Amino acid sequence: MSHKVLMVCLGNICRSPLAHGILESKVHHSIFVDSAGTAGYHIGELPDKRSIAAAKNHGIDISKQRCRQFTENDFTTFDAIYVMDQSNFDNVIKLAPNELCKQKVKLILNEIHPNKNLEIPDPYYGGTSGFEEVFNMLNKACGVIAKKTKWNNLQ
Ligand code: 4NP
Repeated sequence: MSHKVLMVCLGNICRSPLAHGILESKVHHSIFVDSAGTAGYHIGELPDKRSIAAAKNHGIDISKQRCRQFTENDFTTFDAIYVMDQSNFDNVIKLAPNELCKQKVKLILNEIHPNKNLEIPDPYYGGTSGFEEVFNMLNKACGVIAKKTKWNNLQ
């Protein structure tokens, strides 16, 4: 059962804050959702203003989020850990203490394109259209995750 879901990217200011806000809005806070970055460059910061704007365009407020770094403790706290790209996957897997923890880590786009190992592109160095594209990709993936989670919670 996935009562606690963690979204992970590199910086925790662009992609994972969007995934966090989108999933939270779809499950109406019925499960605990959080996000973290594998790197510590931006700890304590707000999400990137372009992510805040992209979310706001779709009626989602992510401005209350603050950046934090992924830690080994997150393997204990969370039932599912969704990563944005292969590099995030490798970084998180390196910190996993055992096989059970490794099994919690999934590429988020495999939820809509099973076994394809597709990636959410890092929009940090691009323009605003990249953030809209990322929003749309995450919105689809989070739709599937939300459905699964609700179904699981009824078991
Ligand atoms: P994110 O994007 O991993 O989607 O939050 C990035 C944000 C910041 C940096 C890299 C990626 N950075 O190098 O500072």
